[in-house]
Amino acid sequence: MQVTMTVNGEQVTAEVEPRMLLVHFLRDQLQLTGTHWGCDTSNCGTCVVEVDGEPVKSCTMLAAMASGHSVRTVEGLEVDGRLDPVQEGFMQCHGLQCGFCTPGMMITARCLLESNPDPTEDEIREAISGQICRCTGYTTIVRSVQWAAKARKDQAEKEGATA
Ligand code: FES
Ligand code: FES
Repeated sequence: MQVTMTVNGEQVTAEVEPRMLLVHFLRDQLQLTGTHWGCDTSNCGTCVVEVDGEPVKSCTMLAAMASGHSVRTVEGLEVDGRLDPVQEGFMQCHGLQCGFCTPGMMITARCLLESNPDPTEDEIREAISGQICRCTGYTTIVRSVQWAAKARKDQAEKEGATA
């Protein structure tokens, strides 16, 4: 069957097996291997991508279900060579060690900050609660998201001052 969707701002049309999962479509057909695949039980959350602004475990969605929708993967966070504040935050606050969970964590963080620009620590922990990190103990991930929230606020204030 044929699917058409927007992936990282570009329209993509492709032939897929009806049973193909979105995670496999992104990784194997579009070569967007930044989205990781870490389990068979929908538990790890390393496969999270943004679908129409919401974080979604891409191993729980068929590629066919994403047809007609807008998908953002970790490869779509950086724009014109500029890192997203979430990416900067993870770099500044050491929000990763092995990095396996990081793409999904950053996508969830970005979705959170879009809907809640100034989240509390509890809200950040709640947002990432469906995702597992085996390395960081989560503390530096939370700090990274807080760093990104502040950077986005500072940027918005700067743009407001120059408008
Ligand atoms: S690959 Fe583990 S939740 Fe999707
Ligand atoms: S940084 Fe290793 S699993 Fe999160």
